[in-house]
Amino acid sequence: MTALPTTRHELGLLWRARPGMAGLLLAGQGLARLPGPAIRKVPGIGWVTGDPVVAREVLKDHRSFTMVGEGGVGDLWAQILGEWVRDLFDGPGHHDLRTRARDLFTEETAAGLVAKAWGPVLGDAGARLADGEPVDIAHLARVLVGRMMIELLGIPAPDGRSESTPWPDDDGALTAFRTGERLARLALGTAGSTTLPPAAIAEAKLITDELTTGVPHAFRTAPTTRLLGRARELGLGLEETTGLASLLMVAGTETSASAMTRTAALLVDTGEQHRLLAALGAGAAGGTVAGDGPAGAERPPSDINLWEPVVREGLRVTSPASVIGRGVSRDVTIGGTRLRAGDRIMLLVWSANAAVGPFRADREYVRETRQLWFGAGRHLCLGAALARAEIAALLRVLWPEDDAVPLRVVRRRAARRVIVPGYEELVLARS
Ligand code: HEM
Repeated sequence: MTALPTTRHELGLLWRARPGMAGLLLAGQGLARLPGPAIRKVPGIGWVTGDPVVAREVLKDHRSFTMVGEGGVGDLWAQILGEWVRDLFDGPGHHDLRTRARDLFTEETAAGLVAKAWGPVLGDAGARLADGEPVDIAHLARVLVGRMMIELLGIPAPDGRSESTPWPDDDGALTAFRTGERLARLALGTAGSTTLPPAAIAEAKLITDELTTGVPHAFRTAPTTRLLGRARELGLGLEETTGLASLLMVAGTETSASAMTRTAALLVDTGEQHRLLAALGAGAAGGTVAGDGPAGAERPPSDINLWEPVVREGLRVTSPASVIGRGVSRDVTIGGTRLRAGDRIMLLVWSANAAVGPFRADREYVRETRQLWFGAGRHLCLGAALARAEIAALLRVLWPEDDAVPLRVVRRRAARRVIVPGYEELVLARS
């Protein structure tokens, strides 16, 4: 019997999200380990590859591949937001935007954002777990990520609320999260073509208007310590900032929540939490878990490298953005195969990453995959530092360094018909 590439629960999540895609990802993972062409043609989909090196080559070759042509996510956005997106996402405007936005999410700003937007909610979840209460981590992750978006985008409190009611609250955060999810859901069914039907475009426009309604005000007034104030300071215009805000909302909600919840489940399901617990115990005595992160000179010894390999491994095994699409913009030979302008190619990111092996809390950095879960090249995830800080913040609350005990899964339910596989419910409790 062939060993499963990951846990059966993880496979269940892929299956419930999109059965057809799950089949393609599993096939890609199998093929990635076999000799043969690195790129193959799948009827109705186009070219696909599960080879990490070829995938990175595609992502870095922006002269031959585009994300705004048929097959790329930018094509969806151009239909929703307007033609200007094509320049902002892939043209000279993109280079300008990335140059200006380079320091929007550094390790330091990410840590500050997480502490500010999540501190009390995480503290409360930690206290409930410590009291022996079961906690739904999937719900918690949605609330947290929704709160982050409200903070980042300056989403105002709904009309009619009294000034004295604190904002954001958990309900508001969930609404923000669900709105982002509705937008992402419109992309379901675009595996064969990224041309959206008019009704989907109209709905997407309504949703983006709703999500970005607070942007013009926040853009004008936010202090430079907040993202939109920072965008103004960096010289971005209102149109660019609104586009960036919509993009953050879609790129950084379901992906983050999925990685947070699934990494927690993986630590429990694979038994790797015990390796972590041993490391935490040793860390308290001055030891570390193997890893390759930057030396954290000012951090206490127990903190150095301890969470970094766990977070990286969670991202690798879950790879929430399971596939990345590109359109071929000129004839090119890649991975030994000739692709023609107008073709499309799907990079099976999950397959490439999963082929490395099962989840190990102390796995060393893998050179071949690098951080393919965040893409590569000019579109490498802008929020990578924030995503890593978010996952680490949740894990630290689940397994606190001074009082970590094993957790168990009380109940779980997979999300159905979603672009990003994940848990609708994942209730954890102390064993
Ligand atoms: C675990 C969580 C996340 C994963 C797995 C992830 C993954 C990715 C991937 C694969 C891409 C490249 C897409 C492509 O090349 O077509 C990307 C781009 C992007 N991500 Fe993330 N992302 C995550 C979280 C976030 C967060 C938290 C934010 C911000 C709040 C964010 C903002 C962006 C933006 C703005 C882009 C577009 C960059 C560009 O086109 O230049 N992401 N992300």
